[in-house]
Amino acid sequence: MLEIVTPWSTAEVYLHGAHVTHFQKNGEPPLLFMSQVSRFLRDAPIRGGIPVIFPWFGKPVDKPLQHGIARVRNWEVKELASPADGSVTVKLRLPYCSDLPACAVEYVVTVSRTLRAELVVTNKSEKEFAFENCLHTYFTVGDIGSVSVTGLKGVKYLDQLDSLARKVEKENRIHISSEVDRVYVDTKHTVSVHDASLKRIIRVEKEGSASTVVWNPWIAKAKAMQDFGDEEYQKMICVESGNVNGNAVKLAPGKTVSLRIKLSSTGLKKT
Ligand code: BG6
Repeated sequence: MLEIVTPWSTAEVYLHGAHVTHFQKNGEPPLLFMSQVSRFLRDAPIRGGIPVIFPWFGKPVDKPLQHGIARVRNWEVKELASPADGSVTVKLRLPYCSDLPACAVEYVVTVSRTLRAELVVTNKSEKEFAFENCLHTYFTVGDIGSVSVTGLKGVKYLDQLDSLARKVEKENRIHISSEVDRVYVDTKHTVSVHDASLKRIIRVEKEGSASTVVWNPWIAKAKAMQDFGDEEYQKMICVESGNVNGNAVKLAPGKTVSLRIKLSSTGLKKT
């Protein structure tokens, strides 16, 4: 695990899964939620932070495990940089995987006042490489009852809790008061998490991403998950950026594609 300290923030990055488990600005609560009962086992993904989902999302019938292989593999450090502007950049590389088409996969994490992450995939094979990707960001919130999510009004989504029924988001401010598991499609917009309890707005800016996933397991699913505390659903929300389902990437031979996120936070103005 790499521990990163900048003049504005701290962060932690595990080589297991290229997993950012911590980012916190000085004087603020952690931006990323981490489960207190995450397992940190060799074959299991870490619960919280930013799991890197690649090369598939969810659990297609022909795949051996949920959300791809990247989050359970050990990545290698390719480069570390701390330029004069005070930021720190970690570049990781996914080692050769016999179960993937020939490709190069890198993950670049930059820590400063903000947290930036970039998943870069190059197709080194002679055929098109079709894949899904997603940076599965778990955010810390003070109390899920005082959270709203904006930036998705009018966007179509697939409701994973209703046999992938296609629906349209009607709300300007999405409030969470039951289990939510939605894949918003064809949307490149910034999404914000407004947290009245921690008096903070988290902005999720993205590039190279046409899907946003919003997930909170709520009570029954939280209880069913071994690596997630029964009450932790109150303290987190996932707003994930990627390309899934009909937005899957089709990468021609020799081409490179990047999925980028920038996470930032500001105080909530009193109204
Ligand atoms: C979300 C999915 O992205 O990840 C949910 O939409 C899923 O369906 C959740 O339950 C967590 O997945 P996992 O494999 O980390 O338990």
